Amino acid sequence: MYILKYLSISVAVILGFWTFSVMAHSGVENKAVMARMMAMKEIAASMKYIGKFRRGTEQFNIQELKENLEIIRYNASVTPQLFEIYAVDPLSEAATEIWETFDDFKNRAKVLESTAEKLVNSVENKEQLNEALKSLGSTCKSCHSKYRN
Ligand code: HEC
Repeated sequence: MYILKYLSISVAVILGFWTFSVMAHSGVENKAVMARMMAMKEIAASMKYIGKFRRGTEQFNIQELKENLEIIRYNASVTPQLFEIYAVDPLSEAATEIWETFDDFKNRAKVLESTAEKLVNSVENKEQLNEALKSLGSTCKSCHSKYRN
């Protein structure tokens, strides 16, 4: 399974982003809010990197592509836990509707997780990236439009 093979590398990458994100969010006091923002930032950073492969500003590399898809899959998989506790912060963009319809919120995270997982196991070349990014991007929008202010 690809996932196990890339997991250790992904953990190292995630820790790297973690340090970076802590610095970027020093204004956020609430730990739970900070953690969920970081997960989102990691997802966004991986999306950006995959976008570079698509545009050709980064040399296409299948292993790095799968690592980034795995980072997205992993962070989507922990999104329900990260948002489970009701937590607010002046800098948070989370809508209170999350905790009113939490099952629906969880389902939207699950769609991102399964989309990323499918792609980890199916994407093989650069030509597939347009579709891949579109399918991932629509899951972000589906959740943000309802749950991010
Ligand atoms: C299940 C819902 C959900 C999905 C799916 C989702 N997000 Fe988010 N995202 C949120 C919520 C809620 C916030 C606001 C969190 C907060 O500010 O407390 C957020 C915030 C963000 C932020 C801002 C983080 C920060 O530093 O404050 C970025 C960037 C982001 N999301 C990117 C993405 C991208 C890219 C995708 C898709 C690949 C995605 N998100 C998918 C719910 C989701």
